Amino acid sequence: MSNPEYVFENLKIINFINLSAEEKEKVRKWRNHPKIKQWMNHRKTISFVEHQQFLTSLEMSKNNKYWLVKQKEQYLGVIYFTDITSLTAELGIYISPDQLGHGYGSLLLKYLLKIGFEKIGLKNIKLEVFSDNTKAINLYQKFHFKIMPTNDLPNKASVVKKRKLTKMTLESILWKKYINNY
Ligand SMILES: CC(C)(COP(=O)(O)OP(=O)(O)OC[C@H]1O[C@@H](n2cnc3c(N)ncnc32)[C@H](O)[C@@H]1OP(=O)(O)O)[C@@H](O)C(=O)NCCC(=O)NCCS
Repeated sequence: MSNPEYVFENLKIINFINLSAEEKEKVRKWRNHPKIKQWMNHRKTISFVEHQQFLTSLEMSKNNKYWLVKQKEQYLGVIYFTDITSLTAELGIYISPDQLGHGYGSLLLKYLLKIGFEKIGLKNIKLEVFSDNTKAINLYQKFHFKIMPTNDLPNKASVVKKRKLTKMTLESILWKKYINNY
C-alpha cells in the first residue's frame, strides 16, 4: 500500500509519484472512462506507456501535483493542481466513474482547497471547465468560485476552439470566510 502525502480524518491523499502498480492502472482506467474523459481537455485514450511517461514526468515536476484519494479501503477519485506558482494554481478533479453523484466531488474539492490554501499557501485557485459541464460548475459555485469574464481567458482556451470554456477563480480570503460551511 502506498504512503499518503496527507491524511485528513479517514481520507488518505496519495501523491501520484507514490502509487502502486495497481493504483496506477486504476487511475488510468478512470481517466479513460467516457464519463470522465468527455470533460477533459485531452480526450484521447491514454495508453499504458503514455501513462507511465506522465507519471515519470511528475517526479521531476514542481508545478504539477496529482493525488489519488482513498477513504478507508475505498478509492474515491483524483485531485490535482497544475501550473503551481507561489501565489496560484489551476485545479482539476475527477471522481471514480462508478461513484459519481454521491457527494465525493464536494468532499474531495474541500480537501484539495485545504491543501492549496493551507498547506501550499496559495492566494488564489483557478480552473477551466467546459461551459456545458453543469455538474462541475454547480460544484465550484457551491464553493464560491466566481466566473471570470471571458476576455480574461488565457491562450489555452482559444486552443480548445470547438467547445466553450468557463474560467473560474476563488480567493483564499473567500475560502476562509466560508470554511465552516464546507
Ligand atoms: C464534477 C464531479 C467532480 C462532481 O462530483 P460528484 O461526486 O459527482 O458530485 P457530488 O455528488 O459531490 O455533488 C457536488 C455538487 O455538484 C453538483 N451536482 C452533482 N450532480 C449534479 C447533477 N446531476 N446536476 C446538477 N448538479 C450536480 C451539485 O452542485 C452538487 O452539490 P449538491 O449535492 O449540494 O447540490 C464529478 O461529476 C466528475 O468527476 N465528473 C467528471 C469529471 C469532471 O467533470 N471534472 C471536472 C472537470 S473541470
